[in-house]
Amino acid sequence: MNILYISDMTFDPWVKPLHRYCPDADLFVWGKDEIDAADVDYVLVWKPPAGVLQNFPNAKAIFNLGAGVDALLHDPDLPKDIPIVRLVDPRLSSSMAEFIVYWVLHFHRGMHTYAQQQRAGEWTPHGQGHTEKRRVGILGLGELGQDAAHALLMLGFENIAGWSRSRKELPGIESFAGPAELDDFLARTEILVCLLPGTKETNGLLNAKTLAKLPKGAFVINSGRGSLIVEDDLIEALNTGQIAAAALDVFQTEPLPDDHAFWSMDNVFVTPHIASLTDSESATQIIAEGIEAIEDGDLPENVVDLKKGY
Ligand code: GLV
Repeated sequence: MNILYISDMTFDPWVKPLHRYCPDADLFVWGKDEIDAADVDYVLVWKPPAGVLQNFPNAKAIFNLGAGVDALLHDPDLPKDIPIVRLVDPRLSSSMAEFIVYWVLHFHRGMHTYAQQQRAGEWTPHGQGHTEKRRVGILGLGELGQDAAHALLMLGFENIAGWSRSRKELPGIESFAGPAELDDFLARTEILVCLLPGTKETNGLLNAKTLAKLPKGAFVINSGRGSLIVEDDLIEALNTGQIAAAALDVFQTEPLPDDHAFWSMDNVFVTPHIASLTDSESATQIIAEGIEAIEDGDLPENVVDLKKGY
């Protein structure tokens, strides 16, 4: 069996796990190792160049090495007849939950204010909100959103709501569904966590109009996709105080351009798309299970629905 790796990230972390979990496979790195395209059985990809994936006529599946498949689906020549599998990995979800918990607590405890006060040499204690009353809203209640919600529930955040395409029955989490319920969801949300995938439907979902539905002084955490937010509208909302502060891990353009306003805004926290990094060890184990399913004539779990876009 031949596995081809296509990514501009180094292959090194994948070598040992692939040998361990796919011991019969021969491994190839695109652009480096010689392999006849017709001999490729499985493709492992992260952000491949457009057009590349149409070249493997006998590939049995394409495994995406991250949760979001938007970079693949933007390729107009993406083959429609090969299953594309997105990575659903408990490790990915738990590190995302860490990131979310970190920023929710940061804003909940007013650390953004104390950081500014420290720079000004100002000693002013503020009141402390209650976790059980703090209204957290999670945009996107898939695997990542649900795990983040559970981590917050365990910390005593009892006022959690989620918004998704279809209603979810999740104990302790109020579920809002579909465009008709978005405004109500936003109106009740003080700390907004964005975890939606980047699709046609979610593109620009947070814009001047929707940001204005949040209560004044709300917080935004985005570790979903940069395409969810109209950045100029968020900058405006941050400048007027409609949004008190934002923690942003993903952007319209990455790396974030040098001259971007976010870099120097006092109430913006920028991280370089690190909220949840793929762990090659656990990911390879999951991919190996997917390959085994296909070799047994079954479909692997988490095949992307091309119409939905995730
Ligand atoms: C990272 O952004 C991912 O999609 O896993």
